[in-house]
Amino acid sequence: MSDVRIGGIELAVIGGTGVYALADLADVVTQWPQTRYGMPSGPLRIGTLQGRRVAFLARHGEGHSVPPHRINYRANLVALQMAGVQRVLALNTVGGITDSCVPGALVCPDQLIDYTWGRTATLSDDAGGDVLHVDFGEPYTRALRAEILASARRAKVAMVDGGCYGATQGPRLETRAEIARMRRDGCDLVGMTGMPEAGLARELGLDYACIGIVANWAAGAGPDADEVITLEDVLATVATATADVARVLGALLGG
Ligand code: HPA
Repeated sequence: MSDVRIGGIELAVIGGTGVYALADLADVVTQWPQTRYGMPSGPLRIGTLQGRRVAFLARHGEGHSVPPHRINYRANLVALQMAGVQRVLALNTVGGITDSCVPGALVCPDQLIDYTWGRTATLSDDAGGDVLHVDFGEPYTRALRAEILASARRAKVAMVDGGCYGATQGPRLETRAEIARMRRDGCDLVGMTGMPEAGLARELGLDYACIGIVANWAAGAGPDADEVITLEDVLATVATATADVARVLGALLGG
């Protein structure tokens, strides 16, 4: 197991679809950590932003080669922890289900529902190891959410406070009936990677919060019920929104 601890890392950012690097990250050191669960999706890029040490990891790999159900979520989070990270900001590209979650919006969810299956979702998976039953009533760290929302206000970036993230299996998008059911369940957002990442972060004792970047209306949720969702549209919307995310991040680090 290699030691990647540099020390003093203020924040780790996990980038989702369309976010494969952190603009303006300076003095970058690249690490390829080997964890007890194997390799993370890609290298850790550890550098300086606003004078603070920040680590970046592309959740799907920097070339988007790892589909949601094959991401080694355990290795990703353990690699960050090995590097000395305590706080994780997860950027998740999502579809919007309810009215405030329009394409282009940034949302800081406060709840989630897990519809994924077949993923290794816990560290309590080793015979003879500890069985963890962590509290998960509030899946995102309250204090970190509050800081993110305050940073968005300081940066004058609109951000929806709260919402329920529904994590689906992917990699296909959902049917309209699935989205209608998720709406009935109380979901505001739909994405494919929010779980098991958030649960594992809790098991590891990491502070963890999410900014959902709404890239499209979820199937049947927008004004045009027949709209076809394309990756090109998703990436174009995310590319526009990342400027706002960068401003929030700057305010978060700048204090
Ligand atoms: N569904 C699931 N995941 C997504 C979507 C969606 O509509 N858009 C971006 N990620």
